[in-house]
Amino acid sequence: MESDNYRENSLDWLGLAGARVLIAGVGGIGGACAKAFDKVGAKLAVSDISVSGMAHLCDDLSSSVVQIEADATQPESANAIISEAIEALGGLDVFVHAIGINLRKPVLEFNPDQWRRIQSINLDSAFYLCQEAGRVMTANRYGRIVIVSSVSGLLAHSDHAPYAATKGAINQMMKVMAREWAPMGVTVNAIAPGYVETELTKDYLDSGGHREELSSLVPAGRLGTPEEMAGPVLFLSSAQCSFVTGHVLYVDGGRTLV
Ligand SMILES: NC(=O)c1ccc[n+]([C@@H]2O[C@H](COP(=O)([O-])OP(=O)(O)OC[C@H]3O[C@@H](n4cnc5c(N)ncnc54)[C@H](O)[C@@H]3O)[C@@H](O)[C@H]2O)c1
Repeated sequence: MESDNYRENSLDWLGLAGARVLIAGVGGIGGACAKAFDKVGAKLAVSDISVSGMAHLCDDLSSSVVQIEADATQPESANAIISEAIEALGGLDVFVHAIGINLRKPVLEFNPDQWRRIQSINLDSAFYLCQEAGRVMTANRYGRIVIVSSVSGLLAHSDHAPYAATKGAINQMMKVMAREWAPMGVTVNAIAPGYVETELTKDYLDSGGHREELSSLVPAGRLGTPEEMAGPVLFLSSAQCSFVTGHVLYVDGGRTLV
């Protein structure tokens, strides 16, 4: 059908063919972004702590995708990830951060190790990787950085304290980076998904009627899909977004309206 073809090709106008793109964290959402970038002809490098996850994803992508195995929580590994991607791609136009974990329980039940682990994986990795990407992009006077935040950076969901803290911090960190790097042609934005079914959320959604309960809170009447996160990420990664920076784009079916 013509309308299906239109939807199928509708990302072509973004002009990302040949763009040199690194995605850190290629689980459900990062993986869907990788497939979308690959489809529009970007040159792609992906990085994740999970070798098997990356390999599985890359079976569906063009053979030239570069895979970088790394734990992104340390400054030296962030430096190595960015260097390796630049060497493989010949430069870096776009960086997407889609690494994250969550642990859902009341504030009073968290111990310091659990708090620290969530800060380290969600926030430290975002700071170190964006800092290294920004270093290169500001020198080149062009770049697009997109960080996957969450509606939890705005709403006070119970049982989400450490996770929400990292997402609120990411939003503010992103805005400062956007302000500092705007004069050098580098934009920094975030998308804030509502609930999307991935490894991060699957067990929770499968238990205790959470899928139905959470869907009922969304004006669109359903949860989002990883593929629905990719279009907004590609839009913010494109040259079409040259005057959009420091923005949190809610991709949530209206969840934050109610
Ligand atoms: N799924 C949702 O409902 C939802 C909603 C809002 C925001 N988000 C955010 O989207 C992002 C992606 O989440 P997802 O739903 O795709 O989850 P996911 O679990 O499918 O993917 C997360 C990826 O991060 C990788 N990772 C974890 N620790 C790492 C480390 N130390 N170094 C490198 N990689 C590491 C994992 O191996 C995995 O591939 C996260 O930032 C998450 O907070 C997800």
